[in-house]
Amino acid sequence: MTALASIRSLTVTYRRDGAEVAALKNVSLDIPAGERFAIIGESGSGKSTLALAIAGLLPATAKIEGRIDWLLRPPPMFGAKAPAGLRDHAPIGGRDMGFIFQDPSASLDPVMPIGKQIAEVAYTHLGLSWRDAYAKAKTLLERVRLPDPDAALRAFPHQLSGGQKQRVAIAAAIAAGPKLLIADEATSALDTIVQAEIVGLIRRLVAEDGMTLLFISHDIALAAELAERIAVFRHGELLELDSTAQIVNAPRHAYTRVLLDAHLGLDAEPLLRRT
Ligand SMILES: Nc1ncnc2c1ncn2[C@@H]1O[C@H](COP(=O)(O)OP(=O)(O)OP(=O)(O)O)[C@@H](O)[C@H]1O
Ligand SMILES: [Mg+2]
Repeated sequence: MTALASIRSLTVTYRRDGAEVAALKNVSLDIPAGERFAIIGESGSGKSTLALAIAGLLPATAKIEGRIDWLLRPPPMFGAKAPAGLRDHAPIGGRDMGFIFQDPSASLDPVMPIGKQIAEVAYTHLGLSWRDAYAKAKTLLERVRLPDPDAALRAFPHQLSGGQKQRVAIAAAIAAGPKLLIADEATSALDTIVQAEIVGLIRRLVAEDGMTLLFISHDIALAAELAERIAVFRHGELLELDSTAQIVNAPRHAYTRVLLDAHLGLDAEPLLRRT
């Protein structure tokens, strides 16, 4: 399979108050096109840093060593002679990849009606007329199963529940038909029932649109529900990377076992049945 993103010996260091924090240490992995891939680990393990690196969105203050190659490269005619800017080009947010974050309010504009926000993504990246982009926004609200899409088009984010806002954020994230969907703790702030609904929604949309999924969570059970492969991180290091079945049934690393035990307690059956 072709890698959508190929990461080699990636080390990312932040500088804060004169001190250096190594957020990722010598990480190498491939995310094949079309795969549902999960990154798990405790807070501060470097999950978001990896997502931002893949998206080309790390802050300028971050020191980056190693390399990331994307499938979305400059046209082949440029080859090795591509101008530096093109050679290094990263995917474009919205068009090549869609993002969903823990807090949907962070990605939604509080003073703009929802329909306009979603339409703007389609308008900007797909070259649609405003009218067509707005019609697409309605279709997207239907696809994410928001009740009463017509009313939702005109609503403002604060008029919706947390779960509904996350559905809107997902609609905006996929509005331009990105190849890669990155969900960074996208269900962590929701209660369990809504969480399960959003996981189901992500699974359906990823299948329908043939997207590659990068699902980031501290919750190994949620990751196991969605992902075909799981990468376990701790303190910026990739501890193990394997198929979901292998990680869940026979983890190689003691830390993965700790994550499993912490989640499952004595009853491992429900999670094992899912894989
Ligand atoms: N912009 C930044 N400037 C300085 N340090 C940062 C910055 N972003 C992250 N860090 C540090 O880098 C390390 C990894 O952070 P990161 O946000 O990638 O972890 P995470 O696994 O996503 O954690 P969480 O589960 O809490 O979201 C942490 O020590 C964090 O404090
Ligand atoms: Mg994070």
